[in-house]
Amino acid sequence: MIRIGLLGASRIAREAVIAPALEIAGAAVTRVAARSMARSRAYADEYGIPGVEPDYAALVASDDVDLVYNGLPPSAHKEWTIAALGAGKHVLCEKPFAMNAGEAREMVDASAATGGFLMEAFHYRFHPLFARVIEILRTGEIGAIRNLRAHFRVPIAFDDEELRYHPELGGGALMDLGCYPVHWVRTLIGEDPVVLSAEAELHRSGVDIMAEAELGFSSGVIARVQCAMAGSLPDRLDARLSVTGETGRLIVDNPLAPHAGHALVVETAAGSRCEQVQGKSTYYHQLQHVVDALGGRTGPLLDGADAIGNMRVLDAIVEMAGLRSTPRKVGRKS
Ligand SMILES: NC(=O)c1ccc[n+]([C@@H]2O[C@H](COP(=O)([O-])OP(=O)(O)OC[C@H]3O[C@@H](n4cnc5c(N)ncnc54)[C@H](OP(=O)(O)O)[C@@H]3O)[C@@H](O)[C@H]2O)c1
Repeated sequence: MIRIGLLGASRIAREAVIAPALEIAGAAVTRVAARSMARSRAYADEYGIPGVEPDYAALVASDDVDLVYNGLPPSAHKEWTIAALGAGKHVLCEKPFAMNAGEAREMVDASAATGGFLMEAFHYRFHPLFARVIEILRTGEIGAIRNLRAHFRVPIAFDDEELRYHPELGGGALMDLGCYPVHWVRTLIGEDPVVLSAEAELHRSGVDIMAEAELGFSSGVIARVQCAMAGSLPDRLDARLSVTGETGRLIVDNPLAPHAGHALVVETAAGSRCEQVQGKSTYYHQLQHVVDALGGRTGPLLDGADAIGNMRVLDAIVEMAGLRSTPRKVGRKS
């Protein structure tokens, strides 16, 4: 049995960990810690978690925890992931993995030093839909890949309590949403791109509410990625990936959370077809993978190098869009 401790009484933990753990025989959420005991107790009561710890330090040290789920803001991922690894725990760390690639490297080094399992929670990767996308591309049905387009847009209303509107916590559309399209295209091409151009639109809080970038891979393949959390957006999640090959096109509507509905369309000279790929929630498949990996039944699908690679691309977009140097100005370099 993998005993899971939740760092933070976060909103996402319910869907990402608590619900799937109820369905997976080899996993159980045993502990939670929030910044206040009152909040930990209320959360534990609401979700039937058997124990609370007085603070984050006690949670990572707890003898009743094997795997720590780090659902804290990105600014707290490094500190508490390294603390958990140092206390002999395994860690499932939320995306974006860290504030930058340097922090990501420190976390991965800590995992290597302690032997603890560490994975970035890119849950979409574990749903059978993404495996099917990879399979179709491998068969050569649409020919060699020429270019990709990917976006993730979802309206997030301004609220001072919302971490996504706080640059110091690791907020912003690029960190919160853009990490996914970057990961989709890196995963499909299987290498790290260079950032050819990037621009962003800023909110008065200092976070980017829109970011887009053109990424170049060594084979000449170009990927355009975009993310947005405010502006003129439809009032729903809008995630899409499109891959154009020499002889066809593959389009995925909602590669992010296919369990909430998706479409996989393949267009070639032979015609067009739409597939539906059965599966449970992305979070279920992710947690099952983690439990299997800890039990030695499967190898890791997402490793530390991948997490560092994703942060490196985000860092390069931040740099090229001028987000770091002039945080209140829209920037563009190409
Ligand atoms: N995989 C996914 O689909 C998915 C979806 C949404 C979010 N996420 C990721 O999950 C993480 C949490 O997101 P969320 O939407 O669940 O946010 P949230 O509900 O605001 O949770 C953040 C948690 O961090 C704790 N925290 C510690 N220091 C904090 C600080 N200085 N300011 C604010 N909160 C602080 C909070 O307090 P307490 O300790 O008091 O509880 C809270 O429980 C982020 O990394 C986010 O990118 C992933």
